[in-house]
Amino acid sequence: MSESPPENPASPVSGLRSVDLTTGLWPEVVGKFIETMPLEDRQSFGAGPSLVMELASGRLGRFEGLYDPGRATLLGMVGGWVLDYEAEIHLLYIRSSERRRGFGRKLLSSFLNNLDAAGVRASYLEVRESNRIARFLYYSLGFKLQNVRKNYYQNPTEDGLVMVREVTGDIPSAPRETQ
Ligand SMILES: CC(C)(COP(=O)(O)OP(=O)(O)OC[C@H]1O[C@@H](n2cnc3c(N)ncnc32)[C@H](O)[C@@H]1OP(=O)(O)O)[C@@H](O)C(=O)NCCC(=O)NCCS
Repeated sequence: MSESPPENPASPVSGLRSVDLTTGLWPEVVGKFIETMPLEDRQSFGAGPSLVMELASGRLGRFEGLYDPGRATLLGMVGGWVLDYEAEIHLLYIRSSERRRGFGRKLLSSFLNNLDAAGVRASYLEVRESNRIARFLYYSLGFKLQNVRKNYYQNPTEDGLVMVREVTGDIPSAPRETQ
């Protein structure tokens, strides 16, 4: 699980693993991952010591990472809180050098599939209006605009878009026990 720089970029799809970042040594790996993030990204996307503590505590949080065993590298992470039938996704981040290769889509799709299987019926997130890349991704995975929080964000000031993805139909299984 070293965080050495990649020598050979992996193919976008083969050999990657989805990992539970709340277990084992993963919180520590996430801590090292965060150190490699630009300061601006850490501040914008809430990645800091409190995230690592949240992962280690494993309380309400459900966090998954996309790991490339071939390069021993964590490519990105996604997660948030799961409470009964609802989830709040607080984090989606792909290492900047690894973007635009399908990893964000793969990571978020896998996370949503796992939420579906756990019986989550509605997943919420919030995104800056200017973050077109993330918005396109969310729309394409079934999120819809629910609400606009006027001037919610600072530096720069802009609206926050609250988006929701709802699952209809029978509940496939009971929701995961929260700890
Ligand atoms: C948002 C983010 C996770 C996307 O990850 P990624 O691995 O680059 O995305 P993918 O390659 O899987 O692309 C998924 C979709 O995103 C959109 N997208 C990605 N890069 C894009 C770009 N440069 N321009 C426009 N759309 C883009 C497209 O809709 C794309 O779907 P497509 O492949 O069918 O065209 C990544 O850009 C990131 O980590 N950004 C910083 C953190 C962030 O903004 N998080 C969201 C906070 S709410």
